[in-house]
Amino acid sequence: MIDIILAKNAGFCFGVRRAIELVDKTLDQNSDSVYSLGPVIHNEFVLDKLAKKGLKIIDKSDLTNIFNSTIVIRSHGVEKNIYEIIDKNNNKIVDLTCPFVKKIHKLVEKYADLGKYIIVIGDPNHAEVQAIISYANNDISVISSKEDINGLKIPENQEIVVLFQTTANIEKSKKLVDILTNLFYNKCLVVNTICNATIDRQNEVNEISKNVDSMIIIGSKQSSNTKKLYEVSKVNCDNTYLINDVSELSKIKNIKNQKVGISAGASTPDDLIEEIVSNARNKF
Ligand code: F3S
Repeated sequence: MIDIILAKNAGFCFGVRRAIELVDKTLDQNSDSVYSLGPVIHNEFVLDKLAKKGLKIIDKSDLTNIFNSTIVIRSHGVEKNIYEIIDKNNNKIVDLTCPFVKKIHKLVEKYADLGKYIIVIGDPNHAEVQAIISYANNDISVISSKEDINGLKIPENQEIVVLFQTTANIEKSKKLVDILTNLFYNKCLVVNTICNATIDRQNEVNEISKNVDSMIIIGSKQSSNTKKLYEVSKVNCDNTYLINDVSELSKIKNIKNQKVGISAGASTPDDLIEEIVSNARNKF
């Protein structure tokens, strides 16, 4: 029999829970078409339920062909110009951008207006980051590694502000901040914009993974915050597994009689966590 330690902060964060509830309400109240710009959440089970209620997923490039409908903006947020495009075609906007992400958009606008050079620590290909950089003029760069810092071209006298993707890896970000503050020691302001949900989840996974034989992280491989939990755990516990559904439990071998930690990304629903925990108890 395995001994399971389930993280207290596993699963839906405030922003995802709020987005799912509001999109559900929007679908109940609208008889016309409701579209979301990209998947509302990185979880197939929840997406299936929303699709059955009528939610259609579209890409930003489809927007020019959509009129008189309802467009849902997901918690990652969208580029600044997208609001105008939606509005132009007489569409209604349901803006589910997480307030923590909105706060970053406002900070970017503020510091860009003040003439600062903005560095965002995060994944340049992630939708949240692409939206964030649209709130600045040209003086913004996204970095995710030491090599990226070497490639920065910042004018001599320009002051720097460092911001973070809400789901950035805390330990990796600290290392990058140390390099940046050494390099630009007298002109670098660091504003921590990693959200509380990320901090709580990563800290808890860091602690649990130091004290278990194996660690299971539940969530989608597409989910940024889930992948970060996996990375954090893997540093302390080599036997870390990332699984998306109960069928993937079979991939995990040799955990009978072990102490096993379980956590889940911010887009993993409670019922999926419960199903996997109870199956793990029965199976091993
Ligand atoms: Fe918001 Fe943080 Fe969740 S930014 S969507 S509370 S992971």
